[in-house]
Amino acid sequence: MANIHRRPSWAIADTLATPEAVFLNRRTLMRSMGLGALSAGAMVAGIRSGRAQDADPTADLYPARRNEAYTLDRDLTPEDINANYNNFYEYGTQKEIAEAAQALRTRPWEIAIGGLVETPITIGIDDLVRRIPLETRLYRHRCVEAWSMTIPWSGFPMKALLDIARPQASAKFLRFETFLDPEMAPGQNSFLYPWPYIEGVTIAEAANDLAFMVTGAYDKPVARQHGAPLRVALPWKYGFKSIKSIRKIDFVEERPVGLWEAIQPSEYGFWANVNPDVPHPRWSQATERVLHTGERVPTQIYNGYGEQVAGLYAGMDDQLLYM
Ligand code: MTE
Repeated sequence: MANIHRRPSWAIADTLATPEAVFLNRRTLMRSMGLGALSAGAMVAGIRSGRAQDADPTADLYPARRNEAYTLDRDLTPEDINANYNNFYEYGTQKEIAEAAQALRTRPWEIAIGGLVETPITIGIDDLVRRIPLETRLYRHRCVEAWSMTIPWSGFPMKALLDIARPQASAKFLRFETFLDPEMAPGQNSFLYPWPYIEGVTIAEAANDLAFMVTGAYDKPVARQHGAPLRVALPWKYGFKSIKSIRKIDFVEERPVGLWEAIQPSEYGFWANVNPDVPHPRWSQATERVLHTGERVPTQIYNGYGEQVAGLYAGMDDQLLYM
């Protein structure tokens, strides 16, 4: 079928692919929408992988150029698995939120970048995404709950935000904020959580090559359940640092308090760097369950990215770096 194509060779090994593991290339999809109706099979494939069917105005940017500096020593997690096992408390506290998350309206979507910067701006996601060249990187993702996956994220280095906003000398941290709209995200009606979801990093962390702003995954705009239209990926940190569906980015002097740190500071800290030797107060972090295999493998310090990031934390032994 013309509007279906196989994953590129760098993606999932054929042996891991499920029978349905063909996916729509968005560009082909757009073209086919212009030419005529999609086949029923293609529509079902789209829904199964958790994508909404409305056209995304940035779809033509995918697949983005593959950055070969970021590869994996394990297979990619099949898209079907990643797209149906998520943490997105705005849409429920269980892992099966993919369907509910389709209620997230991703256009119009403006992002306000401000705080201690030279040039505060509010920019539409489509303008932002076209301003910076996108690339694709294969990253690990390790949740504090001791499961992990691997994913081909597309997006741009977080460093680009520094270039756009030009932080003042007094700025020490970036503070990210998710949208706040309890009507669109029923989970935000729960008073158990201090909405909106907040997370933060230091300026030095943001400038590290690994820190990544995600706009796409699996060669198309990122699915709603993964935090469309813009989320963070910090692969050396526990997954809760990787905030989804960002609306506001502030450069601040004071260390931001994230949603999880606000709720339970004895269990979730600011740094949250992966370390197998420092257990969570209620469970071990020594191993992780790899989502698509069910296997348990040893967890690595900084989730295997020590070479790139350990230097960020030199001389900071007085800090709780690993929770
Ligand atoms: N961002 C928001 N806004 N809301 C959330 O509930 N969960 C975090 C993080 N970002 C979360 C969030 C947690 S705990 C994890 S492990 C990852 O998102 C999960 O990302 P994934 O569902 O794409 O695997």
